[in-house]
Amino acid sequence: MKIYLLYGGRSAEHDISILSAFSLIQGVSYKRHTVVPVYITKQGQFIAGSELTAPLTDAQQLRLTVGTEAVFNAPDQSSFGRSITPYDFKHQDSVVFPMLHGTNGEDGTIQGLLDVLDVPYVGDGVMASATGMDKIISKLVFQEAGIPQVPFEAILLQDWRQDAQQILDRVRGSLLLPLFVKPANAGSSIGISMIDDIDKLQDAIDFAFRYDDRVIVEQGVPETREIELAILGNADINVSVPGEIGKARTFYDYTAKFVDGTTKLLIPAPVSDTIKTKLQAYAKTAYIALGASGLARVDFFLSKSDDIYLNEVQTMPGFTQYSMYPYLWQEMGLQYPDLIDELINLGIERYQQRKQMEANF
Ligand SMILES: Nc1ncnc2c1ncn2[C@@H]1O[C@H](COP(=O)(O)OP(=O)(O)O)[C@@H](O)[C@H]1O
Ligand SMILES: [Mg+2]
Repeated sequence: MKIYLLYGGRSAEHDISILSAFSLIQGVSYKRHTVVPVYITKQGQFIAGSELTAPLTDAQQLRLTVGTEAVFNAPDQSSFGRSITPYDFKHQDSVVFPMLHGTNGEDGTIQGLLDVLDVPYVGDGVMASATGMDKIISKLVFQEAGIPQVPFEAILLQDWRQDAQQILDRVRGSLLLPLFVKPANAGSSIGISMIDDIDKLQDAIDFAFRYDDRVIVEQGVPETREIELAILGNADINVSVPGEIGKARTFYDYTAKFVDGTTKLLIPAPVSDTIKTKLQAYAKTAYIALGASGLARVDFFLSKSDDIYLNEVQTMPGFTQYSMYPYLWQEMGLQYPDLIDELINLGIERYQQRKQMEANF
């Protein structure tokens, strides 16, 4: 297979996407595949590097600077990649791997573009991606599926502008402190505030509205543990053991996640068999309810009294060799290069199934 590896992108998670992509370039089996790195700039331009038949030796090769932007595979600074359009991804024996996190990548938009162009790709389709990305819509779907979640209130910008006081009263009446205020569609903890003083609610909501016109306020789980499970499969769904984010901070924010390395992963998570079985069942139910395919990481809160709450589903989870998703599969006996192969096979299978259904119209 020729893998068109999309990374970067118009998203707050641009940089973590570069790290995920570099890990794939290091970890993929070149006996079976070649990789065309396709960097998407912060402005949305697609730039292809040359086709790789062996791993790059260091991240610098992928991150050489062109102008002001950290970039892609280019052997030296003067050698720019070539501009490419998604039409060019359509070849026999090729597949797109959209290693893009957050908006314009993990939210169904790139998936829609590839569907329209009839190009096979790895991972979730439009609906599961878009639903998984949206903290309000996904909660409604999971509620319908009977999965436990924290109590929440959804706020639309129109309503907030019309009568903020009424909304503040409603939240005060229905949710207990601490509260988490989040844009419905952001990711990477951007725009999120934790408040333990109700007088800060209004400012926190205004802050979240800077990033989206839909905001969710959730009841916080005090001193929560954070447990994540990996899922792999289309119709046959494989669920991993749970892993735990061991954290030095109370609020798992952007800095703790990606920058200062204070987070440790505990795999498998130290939980009882009863909790593990419940987590696995809820994770699978969430995956099915979303209509997910290929992969997802399902994130839970586990309270001090062992109450389980689904937090969110990531349809393109962090994918560096040090990320939870690949680590969980490694624990299950599936090594990184084989995980990539499996994802490619699932993507192709899903593509062929869609073609068959299309033929039935
Ligand atoms: N309801 C909650 N109770 C306890 N902690 C929370 C809650 N919501 C969010 N957090 C903390 O904030 C982090 C980021 O929130 P999350 O909804 O997962 O946003 P993101 O999409 O940025 O990952 C979580 O990993 C957790 O540490
Ligand atoms: Mg999260």
